[in-house]
Amino acid sequence: MTYPKKTLFLILTFSLFIFIQSTVSAHAGLEGKGKSIFASKGCASCHSVVRGKVNSKGPELWYAGSKFTAGFVKAWLEEPVKIRPMAYGSIVEESKEGHPALFPVDADAVAAYLATFKSEKVRPLGIKPKRTSRGRVIFEKKLGCYGCHEVRKGRRVLGGKSGPKLNDAGSRLNPDWIYAYIADPLFFYPMTAMPLYHKSLSKNDLKVLSAYVASLKVKK
Ligand code: HEC
Ligand code: HEC
Repeated sequence: MTYPKKTLFLILTFSLFIFIQSTVSAHAGLEGKGKSIFASKGCASCHSVVRGKVNSKGPELWYAGSKFTAGFVKAWLEEPVKIRPMAYGSIVEESKEGHPALFPVDADAVAAYLATFKSEKVRPLGIKPKRTSRGRVIFEKKLGCYGCHEVRKGRRVLGGKSGPKLNDAGSRLNPDWIYAYIADPLFFYPMTAMPLYHKSLSKNDLKVLSAYVASLKVKK
């Protein structure tokens, strides 16, 4: 059977349309599945996904899609390890192990759902992880960031415990988010205990520092 050219063209366009539609809705389906898991597993009882609606039990997730590196959320939800040495929002009580874990298929869906929460405050500056001596001097000497954040130096684990660990910040945090966060931590969490440094850093030093923090990694 032969078709006239016009009919063939119509059939092809139509099939392409159906194909695009189905991949788009498969993705929307995954996010939708993630949304229902988030609700049914009680994640919302500890995490806010709405800016301005603070939940004191767990970190804000309304900018999760801008904060984390690709792949981190899924992997962490399958096997959560402590990020904050102290209980959330406390500087005296140690945190406990035992964050709820998810099966890989569910973690995948929840990660897709959380990836939809982007913040326009995080500009695409294209900062890349970079370990420079200037970055290290700012981090260690000038501003003493490790007074509150745990980092590794060779085999040694150094630093304070009141902030989240930064020893593996490079695997966890998007460098452009680190920049936006240090520039204005109050935007992300109004009750923050993280000091404001925007006045003590030039824009360029803030970039160098963000690239340095993003280079911190635990060798696996
Ligand atoms: C009982 C409260 C509670 C529940 C329920 C809970 N979380 Fe958490 N979540 C926390 C706390 C506290 C942390 C910080 C853990 C740490 O720093 O070690 C956390 C950390 C996280 C992080 C990393 C965030 C960051 O900024 O470091 C993600 C992602 C996350 N939770 C997602 C979820 C999902 C998805 C669920 C539902 C399956 C869930 N949580 C259920 C309290 C909770
Ligand atoms: C006085 C203690 C303190 C100092 C000093 C400090 N921080 Fe923080 N930082 C915190 C706390 C506490 C948080 C967690 C946010 C909160 O609880 O509000 C935080 C959060 C962060 C985060 C986000 C981590 C995450 O996973 O959410 C980054 C990145 C960060 N700090 C980088 C730095 C850098 C870079 C410096 C040095 C310029 C620095 N901090 C100095 C206390 C500190």
